[in-house]
Amino acid sequence: MAELTVDCAGVNLRNPFLLASGIWGESGESLAGAWNAGAGGVITKSIGSVPRPGYPNPTIETYERWGLLNAMGLPNPGIDEYPREIEVARRAGATVIGSIFGGSAKEFAALAERMAATGVVAIELNLSCPHAEGYGTEIGGTPEEVERVVRAVTEVVSTPVIAKITPNTRDPAALALAAERGGAAAVSAINTLRAIAIDVRLRRPVLAHGLGGLSGPAIKPVGLACVWQIFEKVSIPVVGVGGVATPEDALEYIMAGARAVEVGTQVTFDGIGVFGRLREGLSRLLDELGFARVEDAVGVAHPTTSRGLG
Ligand SMILES: Cc1cc2nc3c(=O)[nH]c(=O)nc-3n(C[C@H](O)[C@H](O)[C@H](O)COP(=O)(O)O)c2cc1C
Repeated sequence: MAELTVDCAGVNLRNPFLLASGIWGESGESLAGAWNAGAGGVITKSIGSVPRPGYPNPTIETYERWGLLNAMGLPNPGIDEYPREIEVARRAGATVIGSIFGGSAKEFAALAERMAATGVVAIELNLSCPHAEGYGTEIGGTPEEVERVVRAVTEVVSTPVIAKITPNTRDPAALALAAERGGAAAVSAINTLRAIAIDVRLRRPVLAHGLGGLSGPAIKPVGLACVWQIFEKVSIPVVGVGGVATPEDALEYIMAGARAVEVGTQVTFDGIGVFGRLREGLSRLLDELGFARVEDAVGVAHPTTSRGLG
């Protein structure tokens, strides 16, 4: 059987499938559940400095064939409350990555110190939520901003930092390079694509917030293109996110240059059992294609394979 363990951002993952932030990861028990179902690691909901209720409903719309449109508004209990949930997941043995969001480099740094103190194996910076005023894309939209935030965080914590990059940009690789310069141990790409749907009978947007973020199978080619472009420019590991639903999807990301993938929307559609199916399916697929280890397949779709085979 092919070897599924991967080393990513200095973290040893038992398999490359991570629970994506914001999906199923709100309580310690749900994080532990995804771990027990076979995830290689679990990423928490993005946590801020203070509790936020999020936007009024409707906050999410399901499109069966191609994904979800959401504008949750980053609801979360805040960093004072959340460490107890991380503790529950860690006690269950889970490899936990803590996601944080802030409105400035200073706020990110303060949150990162609090998050690092919980014992998470890595911290993912949400620099990419497309629909939260003052957060996400609004402070991670340019290379200068990304570098400033990542540097402020890496100066105060030794926990590996993963910068989560937006696809709502002209040049995702420039954002990833900025994260690398700032000291990030890895980049993850992508967060949701800014999107909207209109209810023609009500003559208004479907979501209460209007603009939202699109996720699921529809965005997989976009995520793949971002990972492809980023892999060609940066030396740090890349984590692929967006529309992973099958083992083939995961292997596409890996061949484009990802060392691990995050799974979000498909957990909503299939439940956490998806992690066991993905893990077994990827192992079979790698065997069939003659790869002994996941790491042997990283980046092999690029014309110059020198980066991928190390
Ligand atoms: C309902 C919902 C909530 C999300 N919340 C967060 C969040 O708190 N932080 C974050 O970084 N990404 C968040 N995301 C984005 C996902 O982590 C992921 O980047 C995106 O959905 C693409 O992956 P997928 O197609 O597998 O869902 C959220 C996505 C959805 C659908």
